[in-house]
Amino acid sequence: MQQIRTIVATEFAQVNQLIVEQLQSNVPMVENVGHYIVDAGGKRLRPLLVLLSAAALGGCDQTQIKFAAVIEFIHTATLLHDDVVDISSLRRGRPTANAEFGNAPSVLVGDFLYTRAFQLMVQLGDMDILRHMADTTNTIAEGEVLQLTRAGDASTTEAQYLDVITRKTAVLFAAGCWGAAKLGGRDEQTRRGMREFGLNLGIAFQMIDDVLDYEGNPTTMGKNVGDDLTEGKPTLPLIHVLREGTEAEQALVRRAITEKTADQINDILAAVQRCGALDYTRAQAQRYHDLALAGLAQLPASGARTALEQITDLSINRDH
Ligand code: IPE
Ligand code: IPE
Ligand code: MG
Ligand code: MG
Repeated sequence: MQQIRTIVATEFAQVNQLIVEQLQSNVPMVENVGHYIVDAGGKRLRPLLVLLSAAALGGCDQTQIKFAAVIEFIHTATLLHDDVVDISSLRRGRPTANAEFGNAPSVLVGDFLYTRAFQLMVQLGDMDILRHMADTTNTIAEGEVLQLTRAGDASTTEAQYLDVITRKTAVLFAAGCWGAAKLGGRDEQTRRGMREFGLNLGIAFQMIDDVLDYEGNPTTMGKNVGDDLTEGKPTLPLIHVLREGTEAEQALVRRAITEKTADQINDILAAVQRCGALDYTRAQAQRYHDLALAGLAQLPASGARTALEQITDLSINRDH
């Protein structure tokens, strides 16, 4: 990742500076909680995608730098909210903000980050960007609500799972790539192509996140494994066991989802392994990875395009 960043190193540093500057508030708790999650780092994958998309389309200017910070703010807001909803205790290698400060500060500072993102977007003065981002954040909110209603529902299909992850994760990747093209003054066809690239990449990225929730290493990931099972989330690995498993394996997984319990995690891991559920999920992620790469082919060859290709590869071959 470090090497991929070098191509937009100056712009990336500016984004990080802007992110810290824009946490500024007269209310101390806003800054405390905001810095707590922002200073923990994270991969900063989404702003990097914005900068590299801009660079691959001919150059990265101040509007795209600001837009990259906006995208990371929205992402960070969703994480604050998501960890409350998921009752998660570890994020970016430290206790989650909800574990450290409580649920109320996490939700409210998440709101601060969402609204700060829109203040920054207004400065961009581009109604198309505002409209697209209003729609995108609304879709993310719907995705999280939809996921909530699917939690504990063992009849969730692969198509319904795909709908949830498209909304909650992929649309933000898509919006980042689309916005880089829009702010770069590119035509409708190019913008649509960049959006498709981001969407497919985001889907692949979330599928791997769902694999890592079963087989990742908490120390490398900076997140706990098994959170999805505890929440009764019917992610693709479990959906696969429910389709392909023996009667007993299906009953085991159905019960864990319905009762939202990880108390039989070892048996479930064994079923997931035996059915090849993680391999299946990886294979699906690979499909979306390939679609994403195909979408990049429309761009002229450049160092930035190569970096985008490398990010796409890394998104499905990662341990955190
Ligand atoms: C976590 O995203 C949320 C998902 C969409 C899976 P990241 O894995 O990009 O989180 P950070 O920003 O690097 O911590
Ligand atoms: C991604 O889903 C959540 C958002 C898009 C906000 P997860 O719940 O799987 O993300 P992690 O695993 O907590 O990072
Ligand atoms: Mg979560
Ligand atoms: Mg996850």
